[in-house]
Amino acid sequence: MNFVRDKFVALDPEKCELCYLLCRALRARRVVEFGTSFGVSTIYLAAAVRDTLRDFGGQGTVIGTEIEPTKATAARENISEAGLADFVEIRIGDATETLQDVGGAVDFLLLDSWIPLIRPVIAVMTPQLRAGSMILCDNVELFEAEYVEYTSFIRDPNNGFRSVLLSHQGGLELSVKLG
Ligand SMILES: C[S@@+](CC[C@H](N)C(=O)[O-])C[C@H]1O[C@@H](n2cnc3c(N)ncnc32)[C@H](O)[C@@H]1O
Repeated sequence: MNFVRDKFVALDPEKCELCYLLCRALRARRVVEFGTSFGVSTIYLAAAVRDTLRDFGGQGTVIGTEIEPTKATAARENISEAGLADFVEIRIGDATETLQDVGGAVDFLLLDSWIPLIRPVIAVMTPQLRAGSMILCDNVELFEAEYVEYTSFIRDPNNGFRSVLLSHQGGLELSVKLG
């Protein structure tokens, strides 16, 4: 964990583009990201929210969360440089605390962070996700064993989600909240 403290680990451009497309398809206005790092994926999410608001009006935001304050500061600078600061709020701290109340129904959730916390974060987020919202979780195939707690939960239809593994570049789990 200490090794990656200041490392630049970002979602691949193709996966970022998929996030953009899914958010546009959902007309997502409230987007949450667990694991902001330097803000690369956040920029795609925020661009999607910006473009949805431009085309359909209303209000919206991306709530990113990052435990390392220096990374959060760098993310804010990068997002600002991209002209997207008005569409992003970065919360500094542990996601299980910072995401307790994101202020309304969530349309899209990106999970791209420390694997042991993915399941606890889903517990915090599930009541805040609207029916039809989507969750994208990165690298579930690459770290199959580590993700088993999450994948066994999200793939069990009794838990209210429908889910599929997109077997590409480490694997992405795409899930929809049904009710
Ligand atoms: C893979 S990186 C995120 C990359 C980012 N999504 C992107 O594409 O640019 C994961 C980030 O999660 C952060 N992190 C780890 N544990 C966390 C926690 N408990 N709460 C919030 N963020 C955490 C790490 O500091 C790291 O910057």
